[in-house]
Amino acid sequence: MENHTRKEGGKEAEKLTKNDSFIIEGIDIVRTFKMGEVEVRALRGVPVKIRRGEFVAIMGPSGSGKTTLLNQLGLLDTPNSGKIIINGMDTSGMSEKEKGKFRLHNLGYVFQDYALLPELNAIENVYLSLMMQGKSKKEYESSASDILNAVGLGDRLYQLPSKMSGGQQQRVSVARALAHKPLILFADEPCANLDSAASKQVLDLFKKFNENDGQTIVMVTHEDWHLEYVDRVINLMDGMLVEKNDVK
Ligand SMILES: Nc1ncnc2c1ncn2[C@@H]1O[C@H](COP(=O)(O)OP(=O)(O)O)[C@@H](O)[C@H]1O
Ligand SMILES: [Mg+2]
Repeated sequence: MENHTRKEGGKEAEKLTKNDSFIIEGIDIVRTFKMGEVEVRALRGVPVKIRRGEFVAIMGPSGSGKTTLLNQLGLLDTPNSGKIIINGMDTSGMSEKEKGKFRLHNLGYVFQDYALLPELNAIENVYLSLMMQGKSKKEYESSASDILNAVGLGDRLYQLPSKMSGGQQQRVSVARALAHKPLILFADEPCANLDSAASKQVLDLFKKFNENDGQTIVMVTHEDWHLEYVDRVINLMDGMLVEKNDVK
């Protein structure tokens, strides 16, 4: 794949691999929080470059700025200064409304606490995000059951979150995050509440979507054993990169 030639404007140009382009470029990202008189400098000018198709981990001690960085890259928050370019588009000029639309159509999120709607069953949780994107009933019904099958929950489509294990709930949330085939999947400590067997299932799924579909994944974790799954690590300490995180 590395040596393929790109034909200007042709089909080949669409076949981008992890070596072709940066899907995320963060330039000198600064985020400070005001807590009364105190200013918390959560990110102090962090640069980040992530290639299309990479599976990247963000690591660092508690309070080092991992969640804050993920939230900036995932357009869930706005930096005080710096730039975030996603898929070649500078997001700093976007209004909140534009950002919301961009997130809905292009980004996917998995959180530590699953964030499923408790009154909806598995397939309805996945439907909801597809419906919000304006997909027709036919489209969202088939993509929702396809993706739930792909995460190994084909036999639990109509089960409520409360009747599922934590690992199953997290797999529903992975299905929800990936149903619309986002450009980037962001996951903030997705295995923090799971035992090692359930964690492995979630990480195996991430790896499968990364390898089979070229899904770009940015995952915050603090578990060293998770690193065997990823291509590269971005290490944070006190809101700064610990070392030069040059792309491999
Ligand atoms: N909304 C907020 N208001 C005030 N301080 C915050 C807020 N979010 C994060 N912080 C502070 O920023 C620093 C980095 O936090 P965070 O990104 O959550 O770290 P991590 O995810 O690595 O544990 C911490 O000192 C935290 O207390
Ligand atoms: Mg965090």
